[in-house]
Amino acid sequence: MQTHEIRKRFLDHFVKAGHIEVPSASVILDDPNLLFVNAGMVQFVPYFLGARTPPWNRAVSVQKCIRTPDIDEVGITTRHNTFFQMAGNFSFGDYFKKGAIEFAWTLLTGPQDRGGYGFDPEKLWATVYLDDDEAISLWQEVAGLPLERIQRRGMADNYWSMGIPGPCGPSSEIYYDRGPEYGVEGGPEANEDRYIEIWNLVFMQNERGEGTSKEDFEILGPLPRKNIDTGMGIERVACLLQGVDNVYETDLLRPAIDLVSSLAPRPYVNHGHSADDVRYRIIADHSRTAAIIIADGVSPGNEGRGYVLRRLLRRIIRAAKLLGVEQPIMADLMATVRDAMGPSYPELVTDFDRIQRIAVAEETAFNRTLASGSRLFEDAARSTRAAGATVLSGTDAFTLHDTYGFPLELTLEMAAEAGLSVDEEGFRGLMAQQRQRAKADAAARKQAHTDLSAYRELMDSGPTEFTGFDELTTEAKILGIFVDGRRVPVVSHDGLDAQRVELILDRTPFYAESGGQIADEGAITGTGASETAKAAVTDVQKIAKTLWAHRVNVESGEFVEGDTVVAAVDPRWRHGATQGHSGTHMVHAALRQVLGPNAVQAGSLNRPGYLRFDFNWQGGLTEEQRSQIEEVTNQAVEADFEVHSFTTELDKAKAMGAMALFGEAYPEEVRVVEIGGPFSLELCGGTHVRRSAQIGPVTILGESSVGSGVRRVEAYVGLDSFRHLAKERALMAGLASSLKVPSEEVPDRVATLVDRLRAAEKELDRLRMANARAAAANAAAGAEQIGKVRVVAQRMAGGMSGGDLRSLVGDIRGKLGSDAGVVALIAEGDNDSVPYVVAVNPGAQDLGLRADELVKVLGSAVNGRGGGKADLAQGSGKGAAGIDAALAAIRAEIGRS
Ligand code: ALA
Repeated sequence: MQTHEIRKRFLDHFVKAGHIEVPSASVILDDPNLLFVNAGMVQFVPYFLGARTPPWNRAVSVQKCIRTPDIDEVGITTRHNTFFQMAGNFSFGDYFKKGAIEFAWTLLTGPQDRGGYGFDPEKLWATVYLDDDEAISLWQEVAGLPLERIQRRGMADNYWSMGIPGPCGPSSEIYYDRGPEYGVEGGPEANEDRYIEIWNLVFMQNERGEGTSKEDFEILGPLPRKNIDTGMGIERVACLLQGVDNVYETDLLRPAIDLVSSLAPRPYVNHGHSADDVRYRIIADHSRTAAIIIADGVSPGNEGRGYVLRRLLRRIIRAAKLLGVEQPIMADLMATVRDAMGPSYPELVTDFDRIQRIAVAEETAFNRTLASGSRLFEDAARSTRAAGATVLSGTDAFTLHDTYGFPLELTLEMAAEAGLSVDEEGFRGLMAQQRQRAKADAAARKQAHTDLSAYRELMDSGPTEFTGFDELTTEAKILGIFVDGRRVPVVSHDGLDAQRVELILDRTPFYAESGGQIADEGAITGTGASETAKAAVTDVQKIAKTLWAHRVNVESGEFVEGDTVVAAVDPRWRHGATQGHSGTHMVHAALRQVLGPNAVQAGSLNRPGYLRFDFNWQGGLTEEQRSQIEEVTNQAVEADFEVHSFTTELDKAKAMGAMALFGEAYPEEVRVVEIGGPFSLELCGGTHVRRSAQIGPVTILGESSVGSGVRRVEAYVGLDSFRHLAKERALMAGLASSLKVPSEEVPDRVATLVDRLRAAEKELDRLRMANARAAAANAAAGAEQIGKVRVVAQRMAGGMSGGDLRSLVGDIRGKLGSDAGVVALIAEGDNDSVPYVVAVNPGAQDLGLRADELVKVLGSAVNGRGGGKADLAQGSGKGAAGIDAALAAIRAEIGRS
């Protein structure tokens, strides 16, 4: 059965059962924690969490998924793909375990001539989460699966989450037995190559928090409703239904193997795991993944998704080289992927030119460096071996990375093939040093300490014209291009990071960071012949106060000195920036109104949605001062003052009472920003709103100290301010509902609860003491006579610590009076520990008994260690089973005295 048919049957089966067909989401969803979409449920997360109401309660999809953590398994096992299609059915609070099992079973075992997959029910197995008896019964009832083919497994296998905070739940997986030629008997628990997982049914019912592994994360609580999330691996089902050995030989992947096989001196034979066969499969797997990722908008780069893509492409190129393919193959590979996958993924057809261009550009660039890098590698490997060593140095790995663009993984692979390992730690150390240097460099440039000579020529031709007060988009000419502070004639899209490339234009609408306002963001694009050139502006800094250096990330095409470009500030960014900056002036004015003229500005920073303002002040602000400042600020916002800016002579501005930053050197001509006449008047070069109401609400977050005599207020502005308040409101609502009182009663309620908790703790302490005393009295009363010695040798209540025992021992010894006496107490402590204490009074010591010796007698029966002095000794062991023997031993020992 062809893959396209497998997809179609899945969708039909569930649509018939009332599910809405939802198209695959892009492999890139807007979640910084998730590099790529890795499951069908990702696009539905808000529905599971109850954050949004699903428009339907049943859905079905076939989702493009990328999973690269197992990249090293690709081609070696029969079943690992970096890209695969996950078919899934979803229930949002509708059917649960029974429905999920029923739907899956009927599709898998339904006859092929009636729309099913026709799997032999005798070959199917299921696994369930450890204590999920309900699922076990359902598998028996609904599917008639015998108990022998249902296995219980732990969290790592049968408790599913996305690997990050979000919905999660126990799962039940369905496996197909491929027969003895694929491995030993014993179900999935024994062998996952023979028993191949085809479908995972997740009973999505909880929400998880942070964690460190599949088995270690916090369960935050139940989801609002019980849901179903399932995932069937289309490629694995295809592998089984097509009767091929592995997923790489299924109908949609095999054409790439055949293509390369026709070009390579040694064809694909599939004699299991030969290195060549693995290379063929890597090429087939990775070229498909790369095409899909590029289609969804990623370009090769040195970080994040771009890096994953680059690594995939480079692994293809190297695998082909190792197979002996001399000519470039990327163009043909991409065409092969398009032909195979196009019917299901039309974007691979409509966007083909772009996809192919990007993949081929990476191939061309990498081939150039691969040749020289490989020579360097060979030399390094030879001299490593000649020196009798087996570890390639970190310096060599670093040079290969830095100069030849070899990802570390590539060097590791090449080294492994040459029988060497790599000093990875050394490599990482050098990388860290380089990052440090780059950072220091960037910081130095930020403070304009750079070597300015390279910029001198441009500085002489005059300052950059700033057009950004009047417009957000400006046509401009590229005057100079700098990479790492060195002037170059062109720069192209080749993965250089943004801290390294600078474009200097004759004019620009981009605000360069100054006066506490951070730089604008936006884009610079080429025109005419270079219209494909596009760069994202990530920072703008002034060089020697005259040149605006745009730090950019070149995303496509190339920029050439002298080109005409369009520089465009992101209007939403700018809108936020103006709110932030005008908001800062308002807070400053309000602060002086409330605190008086001694509150002198010491610094500020603002960006879209946020501002902070530092000022000279001794001691903290009172709650009342803070809310007054907030009130005055928001009243001035609401008054909708006109914001008026003009240039004038410095002296005149000062005479008007315009505030300036102390110690700042201002030019003769200055710009003044006035809001609401006398309310706020400041020397300022920043960008502002036109009327104060555009700032939106200002919420003061808090006030803190930043060094002696300097305080800082921080605030949210505009929509961020509103969002902050909304969050607080939600928090309060949550509190009120868990405390089951109206919001306004929350503080009283909490105070009462705290009081009650304190009282309960006190009571608990009192009871504990009383108990301990009673126990001591009982123990003393139960003393036995062994020879001349009165002995209390007892097992105490569980949960006591060594400290508890010691204080009891003292009490009991006191109660025994002056006759010869020994007290030995032992208990089952926490975590399987067995603490024990022995006290021997002077009378008993006179008979030759010593606590530090008796404690050893106890210890040897409970694997313990301990020590002390003649009168008191203590220790701790493991294994409560030995407690009785320990007590018997100590009695015997005393008897011998
Ligand atoms: N979300 C589940 C998985 O990816 C179905 O296995």
